[in-house]
Amino acid sequence: MTNKTICTHSGNFHADEALACFLLKLTPKYKDANIVRSRDKKVIDAADIVVDVGAEYDVEKQRFDHHQASFTDTFDDKHQIKLSSAGLIYKHFGKEIIKNRLEINDSLTEVIFQKLYNSMIEELDGIDNGVERYPSDITPKYESNLNITSMIRALNPEWNEPQTDEIINAQFEKAMKLMGDVFLQKLDFYGKSWLPARTIVEDAINFRKDVHSSGEIIVLEHFCPWKDHLYSLEKSMEIKTPIKFVLFADTAGSWRIQAVNVNSHSFSLRQPIGPPEWRGKRDEELSAISGIDNCVFVHANGFIGGNNNKDGALLMAIRSL
Ligand SMILES: *[C@@H]1O[C@H](CO)[C@@H](O)[C@H](O)[C@H]1NC(C)=O
Ligand SMILES: *[C@@H]1O[C@H](CO)[C@@H](O)[C@H](O)[C@H]1NC(C)=O
Ligand SMILES: *[C@@H]1O[C@H](CO)[C@@H](O)[C@H](O)[C@H]1NC(C)=O
Repeated sequence: MTNKTICTHSGNFHADEALACFLLKLTPKYKDANIVRSRDKKVIDAADIVVDVGAEYDVEKQRFDHHQASFTDTFDDKHQIKLSSAGLIYKHFGKEIIKNRLEINDSLTEVIFQKLYNSMIEELDGIDNGVERYPSDITPKYESNLNITSMIRALNPEWNEPQTDEIINAQFEKAMKLMGDVFLQKLDFYGKSWLPARTIVEDAINFRKDVHSSGEIIVLEHFCPWKDHLYSLEKSMEIKTPIKFVLFADTAGSWRIQAVNVNSHSFSLRQPIGPPEWRGKRDEELSAISGIDNCVFVHANGFIGGNNNKDGALLMAIRSL
């Protein structure tokens, strides 16, 4: 049995098809495929799958170009950015790639699928399609030349360097590797670090009424980065009463109370810790004022506080409601 072929365009390469080809090689179907780079119709027609060339988008025939005028597809109804070949291949093969690598079930795969699109792939789609993140009349304060798109562009031979197919194809392999390394690093981060944190926060939200009947205080069983998850889980779990305080043990085993911001973009707190007379106070003085044993501190702005034990921290949070 001969190996399958993935065809993409020849000439200068870009970040989008470099990633698209890397992604295809992560699938069982195309893992051994040879990559051919060509704009020759005969070569295109003979390929098992075609990416970023061929002027055709037809999943059945495994044709994935996005350059034709008729192409207007986005990731889904909630996204407005037109797909590049990276977004297109991710849309059709991303879930199986995520599921195979992380060995997680369909519902968690869906969570990662969305998160990785929003945090990496959409940017490639936006840049490839020339969509600015900001109105273009804003003058940047310094240059930005270290972005991945420009690093991929720089792997193409320069105008005064030799430009044979062999050289460009060898450089394309490097481009695939660079894009692939970035992709896998992000995938592993979201799968192995971000997702377990989400599970901890989700459990804490589920058990919040056991902590206090108000449901406004949650306790993290292990400390983890929780903010990003709290806001999104409140939405997806349709939590009506916003969570005000998050309790967790610090590395020294003492307990912290952190006040939740109004939303992810705001510095304002939904509810600061304590009445004003607690704020900026420490230790015995704070315990005396609050009548709660083992207090360590409350920050002057009321966004964080500490107590040597969990019950004390919980009492501080309850009194702050
Ligand atoms: C087919 O793919 C395998 C694994 O990638 C490779 O070792 C082999 O050389 C390929 N065969 C051909 C004819 O390209
Ligand atoms: C998916 O796996 C997670 C973690 O193992 C589990 O909590 C969740 O209930 C599973 N979801 C489904 C729909 O099976
Ligand atoms: C990326 O770098 C290139 C130059 O190397 C620059 O022209 C482009 O504006 C940068 N893109 C972004 C999104 O900053």
